[in-house]
Amino acid sequence: MAEFNVDPYADLYARRASGMTASEVRALFSVASRPDVVSLAGGMPYVQALPTEHVLEVVESVLVERADVALQYGGGQGSPALRERLAMLMAEEDTSADPEDLVVTTGAQQALDLVGKVLIDPGDVVAVEAPAYVGALSAFSVYEPRFLQVDLDDDGMIVEQLEEALLRGERPKFVYTVPNFHNPAGVTMSRARREQLVALCREARIPIVEDNPYGMLRFDGEPLPTLRSLDRQNVIYLGTVSKVFSPGVRVGWAVAEPGVLQRLVLAKEAADLCGSQFTMLVTERYFGGELWRRNLGALVQTYRSRRDAMLTALEEHFPSDASWTKPSGGFFVWVTLPDYFDTPALLAAAVDRKVAYVPGTGFYPDGRGRQQMRLCFSYPTEERIAEGIRRLGELLADEEELFRSLSGA
Ligand SMILES: Cc1ncc(COP(=O)(O)O)c(C=O)c1O
Repeated sequence: MAEFNVDPYADLYARRASGMTASEVRALFSVASRPDVVSLAGGMPYVQALPTEHVLEVVESVLVERADVALQYGGGQGSPALRERLAMLMAEEDTSADPEDLVVTTGAQQALDLVGKVLIDPGDVVAVEAPAYVGALSAFSVYEPRFLQVDLDDDGMIVEQLEEALLRGERPKFVYTVPNFHNPAGVTMSRARREQLVALCREARIPIVEDNPYGMLRFDGEPLPTLRSLDRQNVIYLGTVSKVFSPGVRVGWAVAEPGVLQRLVLAKEAADLCGSQFTMLVTERYFGGELWRRNLGALVQTYRSRRDAMLTALEEHFPSDASWTKPSGGFFVWVTLPDYFDTPALLAAAVDRKVAYVPGTGFYPDGRGRQQMRLCFSYPTEERIAEGIRRLGELLADEEELFRSLSGA
C-alpha cells in the first residue's frame, strides 16, 4: 500500500465497488498467522491431517495419466465424472442430485456470487440469518440488495420471524441459510424448523439457498435431512469440498432446477470460462478412491476433541454471565458477552495478549454484534485452544474489573 493513501480514481468507481470494504476476518489473517498468536479467528480446516503421500499419489496420477485434460480448458459446468462424484457426496447426506443439475464452481464462494448475479437486482430483498456467514453478505452485497435479517436461536433460523415479515409485506427474492453447524453461530436448524421453512417458502414461492459446507462434519447426534431433500424444486443447494478435503483445490458446486442451473452455468462461464481442470481432476480422483472416508473420519475425531477442549476451557475461564453455543459439528462457537463488553474494541488488546477472535459485528449487515465473538476450534491443537481461551478469559476478567471500578458496581 502507498503511504499517501489518496486514491486518484475514487470518483470513478461503480456504486457497488465503493461499498466494498475489507472484512474484519480478512484483515485479521496476517496478525493471526503470527506463530505466537493463538488464532481462534479464521475458519481454517486442519489440512495437515491429510496424509501427504496419499495426496501426492492422487496428484501424480492426474499429471501422469491425464495431463492433456488437466492442463487444458474444460466445459463451464465441470466434467460429468466430477459431477457424479459430487452427487455421490450429497448422497452421503441422503440427498439425491442428478449430475445434470449440478455446476462445479470455484468453491462455494463462487456459487454464492453466481446466485447473487442471477437473482439479485439492486434494491431486492434477500432474507439472511442474523448473524450470517460474512462471505455470503459480501458476495450478495455487490448486487446491492436490502437484507432482511431473521434471528437465530439454538434451533436455527426463527422461521416465525420470517413468516411475520412476509405477512408485513416483505417479499424476499430468496432466503439464504446455513442449516448445519452454522457459520458463525455453530447452531443447527431443527427438523421441525426445516419442515416449517420449506413449507413456508414453497407456499410463498420464495426459493431457498441452502449452503451446506459443514454437514459431513457431525460430532454427535443424528443427521437431519437437507432442505434440498425436503423440497427439490424450491431449494438451490450449495456444497464444497473445502471442509471435507481441501479449500486449496477450490472446488464447490451448486445444484438447482434446469432454468436456474442454466443461468448459473452461463454466469460462471462469463466470470472465468471454467474452473481449474487440474484441481477438479484431483478432487474427482480423491473421492473416487476409498481413503477419503478414513481421512474424513480422522478429521471429524480431531475436530470433536478440539470442540470439547474449547467448551471445557470456556467453562473454566469465561465470565459466568457470558453464554455460548455448543455445536454438534462444524468449526465454530458463538459467544455472547454481557452488555459492557465491546468485541471490536477489545480485539487489539486480545492480540497484544496473543490471542485472536472475530468480533461479532461483521456477521450482521446492520453492525449489531458488539457483544459477540466467533471462536473457531478447527485449526489450533487442544493445548493451544486451552491456552487461547485462558488468555481471552483473563482479558475479559480484567475488563470486567475495570468496568465495575469505573461504574462503582
Ligand atoms: C457457510 C459457508 N459458506 C461458504 C463458504 C465458502 O467455502 P469455499 O471454500 O467452498 O468457497 C464458507 C467458508 O468458510 C462457509 O463457512
